[in-house]
Amino acid sequence: MFLIFLLLTGCCLISVTQGAGGKNDTSSDPCGVTGSWVNELGSGMELTCQADSTSVISGSLSGRYNSAVGHAKDFYKISGRYARSGTKLENCIVGFTVAYNNDVHGNSNSTASFTGNYFSFDDTIYTHWILVYHTQPGNMWLNSNMGKNIFKRQH
Ligand SMILES: *[C@@H]1O[C@H](CO)[C@@H](O)[C@H](O)[C@H]1NC(C)=O
Ligand SMILES: *[C@@H]1O[C@H](CO)[C@@H](O)[C@H](O)[C@H]1NC(C)=O
Repeated sequence: MFLIFLLLTGCCLISVTQGAGGKNDTSSDPCGVTGSWVNELGSGMELTCQADSTSVISGSLSGRYNSAVGHAKDFYKISGRYARSGTKLENCIVGFTVAYNNDVHGNSNSTASFTGNYFSFDDTIYTHWILVYHTQPGNMWLNSNMGKNIFKRQH
């Protein structure tokens, strides 16, 4: 029932947006989170969003993650998706993944997936994440960590 409600709501928002001639697919920031961000631990990331060709309500996220800001080569690629909660360019829901393999730290045998909310009123991305690293099958019970990060826009 709830899922059906969500699907129906999504359908209606899309048609309202397109019908009202709001932000279009080629807008440079169809999700509101394009830019540079830093979290409470000093990790930085750059995000760019690209609307789907069929709707500006959802699209892809790309960018890079920098666990130690200032280290120019210490970047990991980011891939994800966004969905907007409404017709205005605000209040985006994001999900993205980082694979921890780069030239500086090599292969850390791990990925982390972040998911969370962007709010335009305080220009902040609130995320939860789960990080999983490779273990032997018998040790899978201890191969993950869960946490939270809050990202503020870096000016
Ligand atoms: C659509 O996108 C183009 C290119 O970015 C921009 O110039 C134009 O203002 C946009 N129109 C609307 C309604 O957002
Ligand atoms: C990643 O896995 C490889 C192969 O098992 C191992 O040699 C390497 O030390 C691991 N790296 C880390 C950071 O644990």
